[in-house]
Amino acid sequence: MILPALVSALHVIGIAMVCTFSTLRLFALRRKDIAATQLADNGNGIGSILLFGAGFWRLFGELEKPLAFYTENPVFWLKMGALAVMVALEMYPQYVVLPWHIRTARKKPIEPKPGQFERMFKLCALQLPCIAIVIVSAAFMSRGVGLPTPPAPPPSSLPGQGVYATYCQTCHQADGRGMNGKLAGDFVGNPAILAKPDDVLLSSISRGTTGTIGTMPAWGSILSIAQQRDALAYIRATFGKPPPP
Ligand code: HEC
Repeated sequence: MILPALVSALHVIGIAMVCTFSTLRLFALRRKDIAATQLADNGNGIGSILLFGAGFWRLFGELEKPLAFYTENPVFWLKMGALAVMVALEMYPQYVVLPWHIRTARKKPIEPKPGQFERMFKLCALQLPCIAIVIVSAAFMSRGVGLPTPPAPPPSSLPGQGVYATYCQTCHQADGRGMNGKLAGDFVGNPAILAKPDDVLLSSISRGTTGTIGTMPAWGSILSIAQQRDALAYIRATFGKPPPP
């Protein structure tokens, strides 16, 4: 629980730094202020390392969600597209500013060529809408927007339905199939899952589990024992057959 939260926090700090420092860099470029441009560029660089480092760690480390949770979602590819455009727009500014950093370190004077500030300003200004797209698509994605939504099961009087809808449905989906087992265990199509006895499944729910599909986070510190039992009872009643005796 702690590691995914920390990595997620680093990712958000990275985004905040990139937002702040790329805006400051824009102002510095407009003033044609070399020192301020360099300073903001350094902040932007550290922010980008956090943003990309923590982002790829989350993605490929499957800290919170299976990889398919992202790759099956068109909104994820929108976010990646916006990031790719940001990186492409960064090429020219880095081509100019990196040698500046080196000259500063060697205590040599910096003589910008005509038009360099104006060109960098235009490219860096175009990055801002990309950052906005990245943030909005990230917020949407974390709530499952963009993933195909199967039809909801009939309303149930079981208390576990609410727990399932709030905590389990983003991965296991409303039809319990977890996108045919790509996102999460498919309770309907893979009867082997619900054939396991309650104590095994409750331990998976409480402590989390990693298998061929990916990783399910641990729910033990988020849901009470009663809520976990209710969710399982709802899953069994809605998607499966009664437990083996
Ligand atoms: C972040 C995505 C995600 C969420 C949210 C999620 N699960 Fe899972 N769940 C998985 C994955 C992935 C698996 C299968 C792991 C594997 O076998 O590869 C799984 C498997 C299971 C299993 C089978 C465990 C076993 O031992 O075979 C049960 C039961 C289960 N989930 C219940 C729940 C319940 C209840 C909730 C809500 C409280 C929930 N899941 C929320 C991803 C998720």
